[in-house]
Amino acid sequence: MIRKTLTCMLACVMGLTMAGCSDGSEGESSSTVADGTINATLPDTSATATPLVVYYSYSGNTRRIAQRLATIIDADSYEIRTVDAYPEDPHDTAEVSQQERNSGDLPELVDDLPDLEAYDTIYIGGPIWNGYVATPLERYLESTDFSGKTVVPFSTSMGSGQSGYLDDFNERVRDPEAIGSYTDIEFPGNGDPDAFTDEQIDELLSDWLDDNDARPHAVADVTLNSGYTMPMLGLGTWTLSDDEAEDCVYHTLEDGYRLVDTAQYYGNEAGVGRGVRKAIADGIVTRDEVFVTTKIMPGTYADPDGAIQESLDRLNLEYIDLLLLHQPGSHDEEVYRGMERAVDEGVVRSIGISNYYTQEAVDEVLSFARITPAVIQNEHHIYNQDDTLQRYVSQYGIAMEGWYPFGGRGHTSESFNNETIMALADEYGKTSAQIILRWQLQTGFIAIPGSSNPDHIAENHDIFDFELTDEDMRSIGAIDEGLRYEEAWHD
Ligand SMILES: NC(=O)c1ccc[n+]([C@@H]2O[C@H](COP(=O)([O-])OP(=O)(O)OC[C@H]3O[C@@H](n4cnc5c(N)ncnc54)[C@H](OP(=O)(O)O)[C@@H]3O)[C@@H](O)[C@H]2O)c1
Ligand SMILES: Cc1cc2nc3c(=O)[nH]c(=O)nc-3n(C[C@H](O)[C@H](O)[C@H](O)COP(=O)(O)O)c2cc1C
Repeated sequence: MIRKTLTCMLACVMGLTMAGCSDGSEGESSSTVADGTINATLPDTSATATPLVVYYSYSGNTRRIAQRLATIIDADSYEIRTVDAYPEDPHDTAEVSQQERNSGDLPELVDDLPDLEAYDTIYIGGPIWNGYVATPLERYLESTDFSGKTVVPFSTSMGSGQSGYLDDFNERVRDPEAIGSYTDIEFPGNGDPDAFTDEQIDELLSDWLDDNDARPHAVADVTLNSGYTMPMLGLGTWTLSDDEAEDCVYHTLEDGYRLVDTAQYYGNEAGVGRGVRKAIADGIVTRDEVFVTTKIMPGTYADPDGAIQESLDRLNLEYIDLLLLHQPGSHDEEVYRGMERAVDEGVVRSIGISNYYTQEAVDEVLSFARITPAVIQNEHHIYNQDDTLQRYVSQYGIAMEGWYPFGGRGHTSESFNNETIMALADEYGKTSAQIILRWQLQTGFIAIPGSSNPDHIAENHDIFDFELTDEDMRSIGAIDEGLRYEEAWHD
């Protein structure tokens, strides 16, 4: 009964003004893609943030509302059903329900209730019956453990009994971590579920979600082999100055993103750190909610511990979520050992590598790695889609992250004006950038589009209200040319 929708959810899109968030070019190592593909499953890209809508409906009103809600917030949904049907006549049902309340003998439910483990936020709704929560929903609330969950109540009614409903709900729901804002949707006198148009319901629900900040944040996550969770969409900061990075990172976090990608090489770690700290100070995020990636260069092999400490000092964020070896070098093992020591010391949570394109190159790292890399960050876009390495490393639970989602500065128009991409943009009412990012996430690659433009940053985040079909994915797959724009940068 659970309707599995996307792995992600609706973006909280908000209008922002940013200080000039700015321009440049970068890259890394090469060689051909190895064969020996292992046909393993891709890393688990479960979105822990996907919400669930659970509802009971006797005459269809709540079902209608719940289904629109699930669509709007891109949630899974579940309808509670009773083993024995209630009488068709609402008056008789009112009587039966009153008896159930009085006796405490609540109705038996069909036993396929959803496993809540995968959900953090559960929207729960039903009709108001006799001024209280409808008895089937009471049964569900009483028999379910919501520990550690945020529950958000709603009801539908003819206009009376809201306070009784909410008191009743709060009394019966067992041990949630938080209860969100309640809303009641009043149906016109005839209680006809078709009395509202979809547009009216959506407007009503959107206002409720926005007014109460009840909209889930738009984050798709991947669980890394280190046990930490990494958001799948973030801001790339290559070419941003310290000041631009500070502004852009701050506003990106305000916009709902939770992942930021920087590097020692970019010269803006201090600005990135300032932007994150400012967002924390302003109550936008907590440190734990933000995932900061930085990278160290292979040339640091003489003193990797010192180089990592310098990043820690510049970022000034207590710890680094993900530290990548920026590109292969002649002393990878020495640098990687330093990265492992930083994990041991607790100042780095996960480590990985960047610009390792072949199975052989990765195997070399694996041969000396005490801690398996959690992420490989490589050039990946519509003209360079090869997933051979992705399939190979999935056996190690290594997640893939793509840089240059739009082909990088100087090449974005080739991606944005691609005919297939433009046709899909037209079909979905999205921009080319949004189609590309949605495609990248659906391939299982973590996406870090670079931008210093507030409108683009908001636009790039608004990709969680649609899903490309398998056919769409195949047509984008056909664009692949095995073209790496930066193949020549590193040997
Ligand atoms: N590991 C590595 O070796 C490596 C190498 C390269 C990059 N990276 C990382 O990957 C990130 C992404 O790469 P990138 O920033 O170089 O290239 P990119 O994301 O492919 O493209 C960035 C360009 O796209 C434009 N853009 C962004 N969103 C747009 C939108 N919605 N509509 C129109 N234009 C848009 C940006 O302009 P505006 O500023 O005007 O939005 C900028 O010119 C980097 O920032 C960096 O963090 C890593
Ligand atoms: C048994 C019963 C009791 C009801 N009691 C109330 C009530 O106390 N207050 C109210 O405003 N509406 C009451 N209603 C109307 C429903 O709450 C309202 O029509 C609701 O939208 C029905 O949702 P559903 O179609 O999902 O079952 C009652 C309806 C029934 C069947």
